[in-house]
Amino acid sequence: MTLNAEILNHLEPASEDKAHTLPASLYTDPSYLNLEYQSIFESHWQLVAHQSELINPGDQVVCQVGRIPIVVVRNQNNLLKAFHNVCRHRAGPVAIENGNNKVLRCKYHGWTYTLDGDLRSAPEMSSTPNFDVCQFHLPQAQVEEWQGFIFVCVNNTPPALGDVLKGVAETIKPIDLKAMSFSHRDEYVIDCNWKVYMDNYLEGYHLPHVHPGLSKLLDYRSYDTILHEWHSYQFSPLDRNGEQNPDNFYGDGHAHYYCVFPNLMLNILPGRLQTNLILPVGHNKTKIIFDYYYSDLKSQRTKKLIAQDREFSDEVQEEDIMICEKVQLGLNSGSYEAGRLCIKRETGVLHYQNLVRLALRRSLSV
Ligand code: FES
Ligand SMILES: [Fe+2]
Repeated sequence: MTLNAEILNHLEPASEDKAHTLPASLYTDPSYLNLEYQSIFESHWQLVAHQSELINPGDQVVCQVGRIPIVVVRNQNNLLKAFHNVCRHRAGPVAIENGNNKVLRCKYHGWTYTLDGDLRSAPEMSSTPNFDVCQFHLPQAQVEEWQGFIFVCVNNTPPALGDVLKGVAETIKPIDLKAMSFSHRDEYVIDCNWKVYMDNYLEGYHLPHVHPGLSKLLDYRSYDTILHEWHSYQFSPLDRNGEQNPDNFYGDGHAHYYCVFPNLMLNILPGRLQTNLILPVGHNKTKIIFDYYYSDLKSQRTKKLIAQDREFSDEVQEEDIMICEKVQLGLNSGSYEAGRLCIKRETGVLHYQNLVRLALRRSLSV
C-alpha cells in the first residue's frame, strides 16, 4: 500500500522532547486496518488460550490471529501445535469449536488431517488425476506457553516471547500466575478504533477525571510507569502511606498493570489476574475480552471478591468506554490532526505508539 508523505512523517519515532501522538487518520481511515493486521497482529505474539483448555491429547481451541483462523491442538505426543484453520481443498474450516478430537476433519467435504497437520484422507478423491494426500499439510503457526498462557504467532520471526514478557513473573512475586484458575469472561464491543482503547490504558493521567471510584483505590501520587522493550508496567500501592485503604477490597500489595505489545493487558491484583485482549472488529469498532482468573475459586472470601471485582471492573470499563467513544468522535471530526503528550504521565503512550510506528515502518520497508 502507499502512504502519503504526511503519514510517513508521523511514523518517524517520536522523542521525549517532541512527544506527539499518532495522526488522527491512523484512527479514522479504514484503509490502514489491513496494514495493521499484517504488521502488528500477524507479526507479534497473540494470547489465544489458557493451559486448562489444552490439557489432553486431542484438545483443540479455535481462535483468530489477525485475519487468519487458527486451531491450536495438543497432539498425540502431548505437544502443542497451531495450524491455519483453512482446509487445503477449498478453504473450509477444519475445526469450528473448542473440544477434543482425534483428527481435524474439515466441516465442508470431510478432508481429514492428523493432529500434526498432515492430510490423511480425502473422500472420493482417488480417481482424481495427480492427487496425492501426502502433498497437503495445514500451514503451521508458532505456539508457546508462558505462565500457563498459550500464545500463537503466524509470522516466523517475532520477538522471543520470553523477551516480550521479560521480568513480569519476577516483579509480581509472591503472586503466581501459574497457580491461577479461570473464573469467567466478560466481553465489550466499543465504537472506537482499537488504538484509542490501547492509548487510554497506557496512562494514569485520566484517573482523577474519568475514574472517581478507581482513584480511591489507587494512590495517584505514587502511581508510576516503567518502560520495557515490549511492554510497559504501571503500578500503584493499594495502601495509603502504609495505612489500610478502606476502599480496597483486594487485599495487601500492589496493583500491577502490564500493557504487552501489541494488544494484551495483564491487570494483576493480590490473588487475581484479569487479562484484556483488544481486537479490532473494523477500523472503528473494537472487541474487548476480559478473562478473570483467581488463585482460589472456592473460599467464601474469594466468592465475595469475585462479585465485587466484577462489578467494580465493569464500572471502570463503562467509564473508559464513554471516554474512548467520545475521543473517537473528536478524531473523526476533522478538527484535530495530532497532539502533544505529557511527559510526566504519558510515557507509556509514547513508548507504545513508537512500537506501532516501528511495526508499520518495518512492513512498509521505509
Ligand atoms: S474445503 Fe475442506 S474438504 Fe472441502
Ligand atoms: Fe481508564
